[in-house]
Amino acid sequence: MKHTSIKSLLKGAPDTPKDVVVKGWVRTIRTSKNVAFIALNDGSIIHNIQLVVDSSSEAFEACSKINTGACLCAEGTLESSQGKGQSVEIHCKKIIVYGTADPEKFPLQKKGHTLEFLREIAHLRTRTNTFGAVFRIRHQMAFAIHQFFNQKNFVYIHSPIITGSDAEGAGEMFRVTTLPLENIPRNPDGSINFMEDFFGKPTNLTVSGQLEAELAALALGNVYTFGPTFRAENSNTPRHLAEFWMIEPEMAFFDIYDNMDLAEEMLKYLVNNALQNCSDDLEFLNQMYDKELITRLQNVVNTPFVRLTYTQAIDILLEYNQEFEFKVSWGTDLQKEHENFLVAHHGGPVILTDYPKQIKAFYMKQNEDGKTVRAMDVLFPWIGEIIGGSQREENLEKLSNRMAEMGIDEDELWWYMDTRKFGTCPHAGFGLGFERLMLFVTGMTNIRDVIPFPRTPKNAEF
Ligand code: 4AD
Ligand code: MG
Repeated sequence: MKHTSIKSLLKGAPDTPKDVVVKGWVRTIRTSKNVAFIALNDGSIIHNIQLVVDSSSEAFEACSKINTGACLCAEGTLESSQGKGQSVEIHCKKIIVYGTADPEKFPLQKKGHTLEFLREIAHLRTRTNTFGAVFRIRHQMAFAIHQFFNQKNFVYIHSPIITGSDAEGAGEMFRVTTLPLENIPRNPDGSINFMEDFFGKPTNLTVSGQLEAELAALALGNVYTFGPTFRAENSNTPRHLAEFWMIEPEMAFFDIYDNMDLAEEMLKYLVNNALQNCSDDLEFLNQMYDKELITRLQNVVNTPFVRLTYTQAIDILLEYNQEFEFKVSWGTDLQKEHENFLVAHHGGPVILTDYPKQIKAFYMKQNEDGKTVRAMDVLFPWIGEIIGGSQREENLEKLSNRMAEMGIDEDELWWYMDTRKFGTCPHAGFGLGFERLMLFVTGMTNIRDVIPFPRTPKNAEF
């Protein structure tokens, strides 16, 4: 007999047969002389189904081998339940134990564990309610991102993960090489001979798919990437990963206002999608970790994002400068404390634009004032920067001059320069950090808890 997911049993699909088979992992078991109660979870939903095993049934014998963590297949009849907290339960006729779990050794016990401890057993933590909820929501958000862009006729572009350029300047890069580290081939002048390397040139893991997305946007109109990106910064913070996922839409004929509108529409769509489709998991997280979570999500969906220029934001911050650890003045990059302040001050998400050019990337469109660029950062409650983006400089001469000022080699980016030579057009785009979005949607406070196997400095286990 085919097995049914616990979700469809608990959600009461009308055509559910009375005879059912379920398969899953045991959360708890209580055995007495006459009866055993097993709480079984199969990951399809946060709730467990209760298995009732009467001592008269042939299944009862198997119960002596069953502990928390065991995996089993249970066959029985679906009955309405007298017990508290569930509408249905399964009266078991037969149980097959697929895998036992030694209670002395199995690290996940009934009592709650700290998130720090669970990070050390990331290979098993998905079997907890918390991480089941987080990773179901993560799936739903990834799916909703594709859905959002598909509805808008955006084309999904797979930008490369290995790149030969490090000109984006978004962060430190990881080198990709097959050269033997113990015997590196050298040129006569002592420099590394990359001709002998796999690609015949130095290569790295990408920090962003943007430059390639721009190439595609200047042919396909509206495109997006959604893939892993890598930054070798030594930032051990609750919001930084060395390997994280980024969504990068890039749109031909968009200016910075269109860009802001799309970013706001997308974030609202995603948060609303979570509220609509992940209510069981969100209610659990709301209950367990953060009583304000669902309210905060609803607020973001219902509140227009405040839009300010960097200069306006600095004026506001200057009034409160004595309160900050890092003092601001026009030209300084904003720290998390400033971002949090601006968000709290306005009671919701804030979009900041027109940053000083010296703190932003070379490709951002230059404003007439000669000092600022058409950058756009979206700041979120609790998270700070969730999106970074800009209108792009489409003018070849201006782009080229800025690159010279910043010491970026045009020859290395000859293909990028070509788009400005042949049929250039106004365009804009942004990058949404997927795990930052996940922090916001789940209310988790450490980015290591919203990706299955986090990569951070000195940590690449699993
Ligand atoms: O602001 P960033 O560096 O922008 C870019 O990479 C542009 N190329 C994007 C574009 O315009 N297409 O990064 C974008 C977002 C940040 O706002 C943040 O949400 C996330 O990526 N991010 C990180 N998330 C986790 N760990 C890190 N180390 C991150 N660095 C950036
Ligand atoms: Mg940024």
